Amino acid sequence: MITIKSPREIEIMRRSGKITSKTLAMLMQTVRAGMTTGEVDRLAEESIRSMGGIPTFVGYHGYKHTICASVNDEVVHGIPGSRVLVEGDLLSIDIGTTLEGYVSDSAVTVPIGSVSAEATRLMRVTQECLMLGIAQMQKGNRLSDIGAAIQAHAEKHGFGVVRDLVGHGIGTKMHEEPQVPNYGSPGQGPILRPGLCLAIEPMITQGSFTVETLDDGWTVVTEDGKLAAHFEHTIAITDEGPRILTLRDTGEHQDVARFRPKEEVAA
Ligand code: MF3
Ligand code: CO
Repeated sequence: MITIKSPREIEIMRRSGKITSKTLAMLMQTVRAGMTTGEVDRLAEESIRSMGGIPTFVGYHGYKHTICASVNDEVVHGIPGSRVLVEGDLLSIDIGTTLEGYVSDSAVTVPIGSVSAEATRLMRVTQECLMLGIAQMQKGNRLSDIGAAIQAHAEKHGFGVVRDLVGHGIGTKMHEEPQVPNYGSPGQGPILRPGLCLAIEPMITQGSFTVETLDDGWTVVTEDGKLAAHFEHTIAITDEGPRILTLRDTGEHQDVARFRPKEEVAA
């Protein structure tokens, strides 16, 4: 069942999203070579709790941490711990906050020090995929318009779109219906309506899109060992268009409607 959220519920999700986005913005400023992913996790937990939130991932199917920390060929669900970040790594940080029973979920991939030009392009295109997917969240559009926009942009740049993991509805639970694939043909699935809240999360790979799960039962890696990037926002559909509930105050496109990928801006 797909649930439609009231303006009052979306306001709570926005406050939840603020805690998530402020925490993520702080981590983006703080992470550097020499830190362990476990230290990043501890900072995230302190930050969320200091603003009155509860780390959503703790206790989720037995998961014990505040963030997922996925490095290089790790796509998602990397477990934070003693791994030391080194110059040139790509670190994907995924966090969720529960506030007054409502969840927000967001992820970014950040470079540790200077990274290769190809890694930079992968991160940029993945973030663009997220924005282009969000731009499809207009009332009257169909659900698959989101994934179709994401896939078209990723493949135009020669990158792979992970199939085995998808975005999702979000609200009082982190994962609600519907599932939101990051691929597919447009014009299919439920019609998008105001009050629908989704977590859109393209997972884009440098090589093949095939992934596997490590023996720890969590960490998802690319089968070919090539890099992956992951960006995620929690968004509400409104009469005026998509409202990003996990938007960060700085360093992000504030207006989805005006967002254009890099080449199109230059053209
Ligand atoms: N945030 C992830 C998602 O977007 C889920 C995290 S799994 C957990 O769906 F175990 F860490 F919670
Ligand atoms: Co999610």
